[in-house]
Amino acid sequence: MQQPLTTMFVIFLAFTFSIFTTTTSVTTIGVTYSSSPPQSENISAAMSTLKLHSLRLDDPDPSIIRSFLYTNTTLFLSIPNYMVSPIASNRTLALAWLYAHVVPFYPRARITTISVGNAFLDSYPEYISDLIPAITNLHLSLRNDLGIRRIQISTTFSFVSAISSPFPPSSAVFQEPPGTSNNFFGSLLRFLQETNSSFLINVFPYNLYRLRSEIPLGLALFQEHAFNYRDDVLTGVRYRNLFDMMVDAVVSAMAVAGYESVPIVVAETGWPSGSTTGNEVDANVGYAEIYVRELVKHIASGEGTPLLKDGVREVYVYEMFDKEGKQGRDWGLFYPNATMKYDIDFSGTSSFTFGEYSFVSVALSLSVAVSITFL
Ligand SMILES: *[C@@H]1O[C@H](CO)[C@@H](O)[C@H](O)[C@H]1NC(C)=O
Ligand SMILES: *[C@@H]1O[C@H](CO)[C@@H](O)[C@H](O)[C@H]1NC(C)=O
Ligand SMILES: *[C@@H]1O[C@H](CO)[C@@H](O)[C@H](O)[C@H]1NC(C)=O
Ligand SMILES: *[C@@H]1O[C@H](CO)[C@@H](O)[C@H](O)[C@H]1NC(C)=O
Ligand SMILES: *[C@@H]1O[C@H](CO)[C@@H](O)[C@H](O)[C@H]1NC(C)=O
Repeated sequence: MQQPLTTMFVIFLAFTFSIFTTTTSVTTIGVTYSSSPPQSENISAAMSTLKLHSLRLDDPDPSIIRSFLYTNTTLFLSIPNYMVSPIASNRTLALAWLYAHVVPFYPRARITTISVGNAFLDSYPEYISDLIPAITNLHLSLRNDLGIRRIQISTTFSFVSAISSPFPPSSAVFQEPPGTSNNFFGSLLRFLQETNSSFLINVFPYNLYRLRSEIPLGLALFQEHAFNYRDDVLTGVRYRNLFDMMVDAVVSAMAVAGYESVPIVVAETGWPSGSTTGNEVDANVGYAEIYVRELVKHIASGEGTPLLKDGVREVYVYEMFDKEGKQGRDWGLFYPNATMKYDIDFSGTSSFTFGEYSFVSVALSLSVAVSITFL
């Protein structure tokens, strides 16, 4: 009996090892839609073209949510910033928003996340003390008035207003917003931990690259060149892209605040493919394509980041369509006429999670079969 049991154990270990080495990252990739007017058919068509199953809707029109009934597309909804203060002072308005955007569709539409505002701190810094009361009112309406427990409530920050600096990532801390009690982020993170919700943040290496002239373009665009790295002198970790540095800065800030186990979702990331203001030579279609393609490849590698081996939970590419006639930067994967700007293959990433799960179950049933044989 001794010999077969040992063999079985070795085989079992081998399977277990292969499970752990292949299921490192379960990051889901999605895309953001924020243009108006609503064009539901065009959005569904674009999701199929991209082969994506996660959609983030800024200020969603109910007709768009309706168009995803009975599909397996997960929906992340953002409440517009101008509604945050009214919702903070009147819970009836929270319930009214839920009655218009969630109640008629859920759970037939797979709404997973509601963000109360998007970069609210940047738009309404003087009303920042309304943010947590608004989140609380939404949470109470959803849980107590409607009895819905599976949708997470959170809010979205921009990297530059939430985090001190990613140089080096390990020394980053949250910047307490002026005019708040001295533990704003701590209170928010405690709520997120207690309600099993994620910390949502917009991560734009492009913006940081524009702000800091010493950052090489290749570091922002995931280029593997000999000199494209930055060492974190405190941890000895070598970074080869700015995205990982920014994510690890968030990881470090959360650890300092005492909440390192709250999952992180990158609610927006991307690279502009054009700009109507001059002198933005790095906002071009070629760089936008490189950024998105390399981001997808990096996420699909399952390596996570140096400080977050499992990676962030979700990443939403900003954004689906260019906004028609808008001044400033264009971020779309598609022109307003729904022609794609460049070919990009997301198919290896959005179903990644499910592929991994099925691999785990195959491996487990194999090891069970092996042990039965040997016993
Ligand atoms: C979701 O739908 C797409 C397209 O129909 C399919 O490829 C994918 O496997 C589905 N995912 C799940 C979890 O059902
Ligand atoms: C809260 O909003 C509802 C709906 O608009 C309104 O009827 C009610 O008067 C408001 N309550 C307060 C205290 O402002
Ligand atoms: C927390 O969220 C995860 C992912 O959404 C889910 O699988 C898990 O069951 C949740 N746990 C609780 C206690 O709600
Ligand atoms: C869509 O717009 C882009 C940019 O303006 C243009 O290059 C392309 O030819 C258009 N496609 C169609 C089908 O009209
Ligand atoms: C949007 O969808 C409608 C209906 O399918 C279609 O007729 C229209 O051409 C689409 N618009 C664009 C810009 O693709």
